[in-house]
Amino acid sequence: MRKKHQYLIPCVYHFYAEPMQIVRGEMQYLYDHAGKRYLDCFAGVSVVNCGHCHPEIVKAVCEQAATLQHTTTIYLTEPIVELAERLAAAAPGRLGKSFFCASGSEANEGAALLAALATGRHEFISLRHALHGRTKLAMSLTGLQMWRADASPVGGVSFAPNPYCFRCPLGSRRDGCDLACADAVETIIKTTTSGQVAAMFVEPIQGNGGVITPPTGYFKRLREILDRYGVLLVVDEVQTGFGRTGKLFGIEHFGVEPDIMTMAKALANGTPVGAFITNDELAAKFTRPSASTLGGNPVTAAAALATLDVIAKYGLADRAVILGDRLKAGLTALMARHPVIGDVRGLGLMLGAELVRPDNAPAAAETDLVLEMMKDRGFLVGKNGLHRNVLAFQPPLVVSAEDIDNLLTALDDVLGRL
Ligand SMILES: Cc1ncc(COP(=O)(O)O)c(C=O)c1O
Repeated sequence: MRKKHQYLIPCVYHFYAEPMQIVRGEMQYLYDHAGKRYLDCFAGVSVVNCGHCHPEIVKAVCEQAATLQHTTTIYLTEPIVELAERLAAAAPGRLGKSFFCASGSEANEGAALLAALATGRHEFISLRHALHGRTKLAMSLTGLQMWRADASPVGGVSFAPNPYCFRCPLGSRRDGCDLACADAVETIIKTTTSGQVAAMFVEPIQGNGGVITPPTGYFKRLREILDRYGVLLVVDEVQTGFGRTGKLFGIEHFGVEPDIMTMAKALANGTPVGAFITNDELAAKFTRPSASTLGGNPVTAAAALATLDVIAKYGLADRAVILGDRLKAGLTALMARHPVIGDVRGLGLMLGAELVRPDNAPAAAETDLVLEMMKDRGFLVGKNGLHRNVLAFQPPLVVSAEDIDNLLTALDDVLGRL
């Protein structure tokens, strides 16, 4: 901790008043310096979907690292091409041409550039509570104050109300809104833009925003509106991708085809990666040279190929459905017993429990307490949301039913002691 304070810029912060040092990972478990085992319920924020140090992925990484670690994209190598082919087969609809980089922020920057080049337009729409990254434009597309450190963001970004049914930004009731938040995008195009909008960015489920899960029909309505105004749809799958929600990509739950889809995190199960994929028509508009030094690096590509193999071989998306249902049912039962849980939401193993006070105000201090008490019991639960009052459950997809039951038992105990 002393060295951390001395040598790392203080913006790098940790969960927990007394952070433990994580020294080892094995599938769904992490171990600290004292040998204590934790069930990882956050997966490094939706990254290690296949589990920590999955032996088949480790083997692929080691073999590639020992053969050819790096060249850069200006030289032809096989893994990057194979990975692009696999993504084309896996991605929705006509998405079939990829560009690789090294992080989710970069993927979103690249997607924005492609959208601008393809449409000749330069304005964007994003959602309140969105998180799209740390770089200048990706941060400007981010709708959470906590993650907008830049007080001079780029212009031309308009924010639409998000589909946050528990606290509807338009004051609607859950069952009687007729998707007013989607319709609001049309008003935004007409009132806060020149009409020349290149693209709208969305996450299928807003991760950092608090596992905000749109109602059925939201994305279809959005797509209709965007199509009417020639606005491209960029879907950010950085957190929702690769089996997390019970399908390979989160947007598959909603039946719309993105124009551009961005990926990172779980694509390579912990090896730094980012990518965006688009259709032939849009890809053809991006012909100026663009090289990413580490994009599609052979070791990263080998890790991603092995990750896709593991997801398919062990049916991890299906596991996310089965175990996610078990966890969601358990959390819903806890909500009935503990009024501090105001809402349980999400899909597959991307679930959130929003903690509230008796007057429904966000219970942020209580959320911190729950995180600490769960850590002491050996469970690393995530936390997010505008008010940092949403417990996030996004474990590696290799968790067992027993892990889920143990997690629920511990949470029941902790909530009872709050
Ligand atoms: C939805 C989403 N998009 C983009 C990013 C940025 O990704 P990275 O940290 O790899 O730059 C994140 C990071 O948490 C994210 O959750």
